[in-house]
Amino acid sequence: MDILKKIQDHREQEEELKWEGTFAEYLELLKERPYLAQSAHSRVYNMIKSAGVDEDHDHKRYKFFDQDIYGLDEAMEKLVEEYFHPAARRLDVRKRILLLMGPVSGGKSTLVNLLKRGLEKYSHTEEGAVFAIKGCPMHEDPLHLIPQHLRKEFQEEYGIRIEGSLSPLNTMRVETEYGGRIEDVLVERIFFSEDKRTGIGTFSPSDPKSQDIADLTGSIDFSTIAQYGSESDPRAYRFDGELNKANRGMMEFQEMLKCDEKFLWHLLSLTQEGNFKAGRFALISADELIVAHTNEAEYRSFIANKKNEALHSRMIVMPVPYNLKVSQEERIYEKMIRESDIRDVHIAPHTLRVAAMFTILTRLKESKKASVDVLKKMRLYDGEILEGFSDVDVEELKKEHSDEGMSGIDPRYVINRISSTIIKKELTSINALDVLRSLKDGLGSHASISNEDKERYLDFISLARKEYDEIAKKEVQKAFVYSYEESAVTLMDNYLDNVEAYCNKAKLRDPLTGEELNPDERLMRSIEEQIGVSENAKKAFREEILIRISAYARKGKKFDYQSHERLREAIQKKLFADLKDVVKITTSTKTPDEQQLKKINEVVATLVDEHGYNSSSANELLKYVGSLLNR
Ligand SMILES: Nc1ncnc2c1ncn2[C@@H]1O[C@H](COP(=O)(O)OP(=O)(O)OP(=O)(O)O)[C@@H](O)[C@H]1O
Ligand SMILES: [Mg+2]
Repeated sequence: MDILKKIQDHREQEEELKWEGTFAEYLELLKERPYLAQSAHSRVYNMIKSAGVDEDHDHKRYKFFDQDIYGLDEAMEKLVEEYFHPAARRLDVRKRILLLMGPVSGGKSTLVNLLKRGLEKYSHTEEGAVFAIKGCPMHEDPLHLIPQHLRKEFQEEYGIRIEGSLSPLNTMRVETEYGGRIEDVLVERIFFSEDKRTGIGTFSPSDPKSQDIADLTGSIDFSTIAQYGSESDPRAYRFDGELNKANRGMMEFQEMLKCDEKFLWHLLSLTQEGNFKAGRFALISADELIVAHTNEAEYRSFIANKKNEALHSRMIVMPVPYNLKVSQEERIYEKMIRESDIRDVHIAPHTLRVAAMFTILTRLKESKKASVDVLKKMRLYDGEILEGFSDVDVEELKKEHSDEGMSGIDPRYVINRISSTIIKKELTSINALDVLRSLKDGLGSHASISNEDKERYLDFISLARKEYDEIAKKEVQKAFVYSYEESAVTLMDNYLDNVEAYCNKAKLRDPLTGEELNPDERLMRSIEEQIGVSENAKKAFREEILIRISAYARKGKKFDYQSHERLREAIQKKLFADLKDVVKITTSTKTPDEQQLKKINEVVATLVDEHGYNSSSANELLKYVGSLLNR
């Protein structure tokens, strides 16, 4: 069986990666590959970088986040440039707790998981390999074995700086098991795994009365005190708290700001001096990334409390806002649906897009610029090119509100509404109208929406609905044209031939009869009128198009009907105008004749074959568009 074979392969690969040797042998390894001794933060940074970086203009896009985080390129760039990169270079930020702050369901946990899973994988690679003192519950860095007074020399020889001191347990083991010969201490390669509690930990607070600090820093193992004689013998201690287990990797601190203070104090010295106290022992050095997450309200009340000042100064807050791009939001829903139990339901094309439009509208803040309404802003943010706006304008818009993306509707709400509608109505297919209706109905019971916001949101529902109406009409009209692309190209070629003749004051030749003809003024005007080119402006318009064509030719680019925005619009409108009556009558008739029935079947087939509908959603669409056209 395939899967069993894979499991076996995997095991064999793991087996091959294993390494065990003495500390002396490990030092040999380090001579060739000094990067093996990198700090936890540096490993995280290198992992992120190793997935690839795209650079354009002055922005960097880190591909590491691509697979799971959509639309947050800028936030991720900030996170890497302002935290991971400087932390990797041992700058001070490394000592701070990374606090991700963002609205509910904005992807914070997803981000943390991505880092965890990434580290697990990376520790299996050559560059991300991690070595530890064998048998140490904290996977201690073998270099801690080097005594303090020799570290300067070591650094000169190896170029590696050592931080942290040997833990009480290993200090004792070196004496008892190795007779003080550190060069004989066994070192092994370790592989991060949250399940096996190696290098990845998660601490989540529970009831403060019953929760014990042991969860964080380990505890005395009373059953062994008799054996070792004393509570302060490190062998009688279980170094199995999350902070211990996450050493060398990362620890996620869930709900940190809700946590009881006594837990937080432990983090103070850890973040500042890189060590923490456990039981009755000397301080234990730890090298790990600590990530916590919170929402804005919780964070505000945390910093408002003076008592938290010390801790606050040891955190670095990084925003994880909502995505603000419609097309990325659509991808988020697609991903969430794939992972849910409604993945088999047919979702009509544009459904998720329209839902995403609504969601993004609720997240946007109004611009101060009079020429930019929310819809325009939504389009510009999504990368659409709108006449009169440049990239610089978009950058400016983004700078207007620093807290944009920190409020609005969350993706989980949308998915929950979609699934509950499907389940309640036992639907096998769902369309944009169903979803908008369901989003609207749910607003009343959404816990965190104020009445004022509700009013705004209702407006956004109707805006999204209007957008959908346009999309729906276009879709049906396109399906009515026998072959839309082909017809558009033919019509444009025809138009351009006439324009060329007109501008050059030349004649056209009839391809069939060879007869000379004057440019077809009626045809040209019928197209130009679609986009409001007046009789007076027609000459300039035609000349401009010819100039564009020759500019394209000079650059060796092909001019097609997509190359001129307004011309494309005119051609499309002309095609649709010619069809309007047919579409209107065919889609709205209750008793179609044979001819109409044939057309309807053809259109449904096109929608199904080429546009991703099924026959029921295609028929629904036709009916809806029929009613729109007859309004
Ligand atoms: N920008 C995004 N890219 C990809 N998926 C996202 C994004 N934002 C939210 N999601 C999806 O939304 C869901 C909720 O996200 P997640 O649990 O990571 O949010 P959170 O910020 O941890 O929320 P909470 O505050 O409720 O803990 C997940 O399924 C996640 O995949
Ligand atoms: Mg979460």
